[in-house]
Amino acid sequence: MALKNDIKKTLLSEKEIKEICKKLGKQITKDYKKENDLLLLGLLKGCHPFISDLAREIDLPLEITYMDASSYEGTKSTGTVKINYDADINVNNRNVLIVEDIVDTGLTLQKVINLLKARSPKSIKIVSLLNKPCNRIKELKIDYIGKEIPNEFAVGYGLDYNQKYRNLNFIGVLKEEIYSK
Ligand code: IMP
Ligand code: MG
Repeated sequence: MALKNDIKKTLLSEKEIKEICKKLGKQITKDYKKENDLLLLGLLKGCHPFISDLAREIDLPLEITYMDASSYEGTKSTGTVKINYDADINVNNRNVLIVEDIVDTGLTLQKVINLLKARSPKSIKIVSLLNKPCNRIKELKIDYIGKEIPNEFAVGYGLDYNQKYRNLNFIGVLKEEIYSK
């Protein structure tokens, strides 16, 4: 059965995602033009389609590195954040732009930001494709946001439910029966 049959409704279509990447890429290009340095730091695994599309909309020389920090099991934040993989590029004195799929409680980003700040980057900013502000525990300034969404569990375009649905080319909400399986 087609993967998209498990989806109840679409939050962002493939076309809308493309437009968001274009818009964010244009703004980031403008903002970092004078800096002569940009390091994209993607948070795995959810960031991968987004960082790939976004990076190609940024018309500047840049480098890409990744970190893997996890806080979720199923659809609930566990409240503790684990660093599974650390960046392979030194962030010291670099303009770091963290690339995130979605910000929910803010716990993951807060932990990552604290860790990175201790390594003395020149600057740290955040770009997130989605923002779910209603569950926020940690106040965070997200510098670039693709779209704000209500308190629903999103899947697709990198976002997973129990490691699945990352390969959908749009973002949607799962049918209730999928969770009760
Ligand atoms: P936070 O620490 O609660 O802000 O959660 C951040 C991480 O949890 C995100 O990077 C996602 O990987 C995951 N997450 C949060 N909300 C969702 C969702 O609606 N769908 C899929 N993953 C989510
Ligand atoms: Mg994530």
